[in-house]
Amino acid sequence: MAIRIVRENGDEILRKKSREVEVIDDRIRELLDDMVETLHSYNGVGLAGPQIGILKRLVVIDLYDDKGPIKLVNPKIIKQKGEQEVEEGCLSFPNQFAKIIRPAEVTIEALDENGKKIKIKGEGLLAQAISHEIDHLDGILFVDKIIPGTLEYVSPDSNKDESK
Ligand code: NI
Repeated sequence: MAIRIVRENGDEILRKKSREVEVIDDRIRELLDDMVETLHSYNGVGLAGPQIGILKRLVVIDLYDDKGPIKLVNPKIIKQKGEQEVEEGCLSFPNQFAKIIRPAEVTIEALDENGKKIKIKGEGLLAQAISHEIDHLDGILFVDKIIPGTLEYVSPDSNKDESK
């Protein structure tokens, strides 16, 4: 496993659309492991392929609860419900936070790291994280969705850690 460099704001790759993964092999599994390791090293809750320079539809999420890290290949939102106003950041936008509107509940279909079809229903922070990461796969960034006037720059030594 290896910690990858997280691409930051201004890197064009963050605006590109990621491709579906066709074959889930050891290379993909290693990428997912690297993504989890990278996520943990940044204390983030979610990371998407383009953020480490890989234009593949890969997402990892970890809410540091009993579900452990979730690895998703080709995730697709099949249902969403309601809205929530949330404070959000992104590992690609260090020290920036803003309020945005996310769905309150989402249901996704994806493949796991063994190619098995999975379905996950999430609400609250999980719904927020899933929505944020799937946006990354389509080149959409949280700054595209901020409620005007709510963007904040926080100094690096304060304790915000909701970065995705
Ligand atoms: Ni992000």
